[in-house]
Order: sequence, then structure tokens, then C-alpha cells
Amino acid sequence: MSIDSKELENIYSRLDTVKDPEIGVSIVKLKMIDSIEKDSDFLNIKIKLTVPGCPLSATIEKDIKAALGGAGYENVNVAFGYMTRKELEDVKSTLSENRRDLPPPIAKYTKKNIKNIIAVYSAKGGVGKSSVVVLLALTASRLGYKTGILDCDVSGPSVRTLFNSDWHASINNENKLNPLVDSNIKIISIDMLTNAEALVWRGPLVSSAIKQMYSDTDWGELDVLFLDLPPGTSDGPITVFQTIPVDRILLVTTPQNLSQVIGKKTLIMAEALKVPIVGIIENMSYLVCDHCGEKIYLPDSKTRILNGIPILGRLPFNKAVSTDIKSLDFDSLHSLESVIKYSLIESDGGVDLRRP
Ligand SMILES: Nc1ncnc2c1ncn2[C@@H]1O[C@H](COP(=O)(O)OP(=O)(O)OP(=O)(O)O)[C@@H](O)[C@H]1O
Ligand SMILES: [Mg+2]
Repeated sequence: MSIDSKELENIYSRLDTVKDPEIGVSIVKLKMIDSIEKDSDFLNIKIKLTVPGCPLSATIEKDIKAALGGAGYENVNVAFGYMTRKELEDVKSTLSENRRDLPPPIAKYTKKNIKNIIAVYSAKGGVGKSSVVVLLALTASRLGYKTGILDCDVSGPSVRTLFNSDWHASINNENKLNPLVDSNIKIISIDMLTNAEALVWRGPLVSSAIKQMYSDTDWGELDVLFLDLPPGTSDGPITVFQTIPVDRILLVTTPQNLSQVIGKKTLIMAEALKVPIVGIIENMSYLVCDHCGEKIYLPDSKTRILNGIPILGRLPFNKAVSTDIKSLDFDSLHSLESVIKYSLIESDGGVDLRRP
């Protein structure tokens, strides 16, 4: 049964109110509507997801049915396909055009005496970002780089705990915060400034806390500052990308499908925010056999390049990460050395920061 143009326009305007739950832009603007057909009883809508098997398709279906239910369409079928690479490229440019859906750009802080600022990020929680930040920093410090960590996870800071410290940052003569210094790494986090657990952080507070920690800490001269980002695409990460002069993003994923899927969305978000991604670290990628030293990869852990972004390193599952991260044997972290060298050289405009 055909749908006349007026009715189609009405349906599209209803669908325009439905947003991709993760990207936060209308599914119409993202050109996710593949087809709309009507038979005697049903309105059949086919949606193209940005990635196959997107775990949020159930939410999109629910939102579509709610939006159309209000216009008298009680029987709606929603089916899903997914976008081609070319269509995904279009989504990225649409996202750039729709940057007004994101908070307005703010003037960025200067880099001061920090040569490289690298954000470690994933839209998915619990993939090991904080652990990877600490391992990267320990490796960088061991390689002789002057290293810092800014824990940007204001609602759930974990870096101080990973260093097994109860440091509280005092203010020095220059009115700057004294960071914790451990393993030659300068570290600041919100739980060094206040009893973070006692506070419920709202958006603007999250943003100002991150900005203050960046600008008010006595970093001195650093070769590299690693930023441990909270998961998701909320105020925290957006503040970081909009106000701190991040050179590059290192993306963390795990071999499981879900984080790969969300990882792809992260790529889209990062592109919209115009921060380049240097590569991916796959965490909890394999186990090393206690007896023979063989690396046992998880079934899903195969080389994958997400949208042309290389996987720069793979880290083993190792229980010492949660029990005593500083005790980890650096041979098993060999891949992080090359990640660091690659990231720093690349992001310093070609200046080789490698130590002799
Ligand atoms: N390579 C690893 N081997 C073993 N356990 C790990 C590894 N990486 C992370 N973990 C464990 O997984 C859990 C989540 O790690 P972590 O807190 O670093 O993740 P996250 O991505 O920062 O989480 P959030 O999104 O909540 O900030 C922790 O218990 C940590 O000890
Ligand atoms: Mg974390």
C-alpha cells in the first residue's frame, strides 16, 4: 500500500524526534531510515544501524514505536540492517555538521610545558582504561619520559587506588596543587582534593573539576600527560576534548564483540570532536599459560582494524592488574613500549622524543 507524500512527511517528522541513543543525533539526520512501507495492518520501517548487531537497537525500536504511537500508528514493525562503509562516512560528515548538538566549543587551555597529551578513552565502561593508563605511565616513566596522569573520572576516580595511595594534594607557594609522585609519575585525581564519594557530581561541576585539575596542578615539565577518561560520551569526555589540548586518543577495547561495537561509535564521536585517534590497545586479549608460557587468545581476538585505525598493542589478562599493578613484569608489557614511542613521536610533529 503506498503512502502519500503528506503522510510520509508526517512519519519522518515523528521519526526526527528519535535520536541514536549513543550519538545523540536524530536517526533521520543520520540517514538511518532505509525504507518505510505500509500494508493493511502494519507500518514497516527498516533501519540501518551504524554498526552490525548494535546493542542499542532495542532502545531505537522502543523510541520509534513511542514516537509513532502518538501519531496513531499502533502497529509498527521495525527491522534492522546496517550501513555500508560509504554510508558510515556520510554519518561522520553529518556529525561534524551537527556539532551544534554538542556543547559549544570553548577556548582550550594551553599546553604549557607538556609535550604530549594523550587521552585514553572508550565509550564502553570497564574495558580497563584506568589500568591501561597506569601501565602506559609506568612504561613511559621506565623509558625515561617525564610522565603525568590526570584522572578525569570525577565520578569514579581509580588511579590513586591503583597506586595504593591515600595522598591528599596540598597547595604550594605558587598556589598550585602538589600532585602525588609515584614511580616518578605525577598524578592528580579528584579524590586527592575532596571526599569525592560524598558528592553527587552534576555536569558543570564535572567540567570545572577537570579543568581545574588540569590547569592548577604543578606539572612542571612533562614529556607526556596521560588522561584517564570516564566512559561514555557525557560531560566528562566532552569537556576534556573541548578544553584540554589533547594531541591524540588511544582507544581501549577488549576482544568481546560489544566493546568492538561501541569502539566504532567512539571513532565516530572522536571524529566529530576533531581529535585524532592514534590507535587501539586491546586489553585482556590473551592469557599466558603458567606452565609453558604459551599465549592463549580468546576466540574472538583476531587482528581487526577498526575504520582503518591500527591495533597498536595487546595486553594479557593478568590478575596482578587488579592486585598489584606496579609489580607487573614488564616483559609482558613489551607492546606498550612501542605504543608509547609511536604515540609520542607521531604527536610531536615529527620530533623524535626517544631516549638514546
Ligand atoms: N589486563 C587485565 N588483566 C586483568 N584484569 C584487568 C585487566 N585490565 C583491567 N582489569 C580489571 O578489570 C576491571 C576494570 O578495569 P578498569 O577499572 O581499569 O576499567 P575502566 O575502563 O577504567 O573502567 P571504568 O569505565 O569504570 O572507568 C578492574 O577490576 C581491573 O582490575
Ligand atoms: Mg576507569
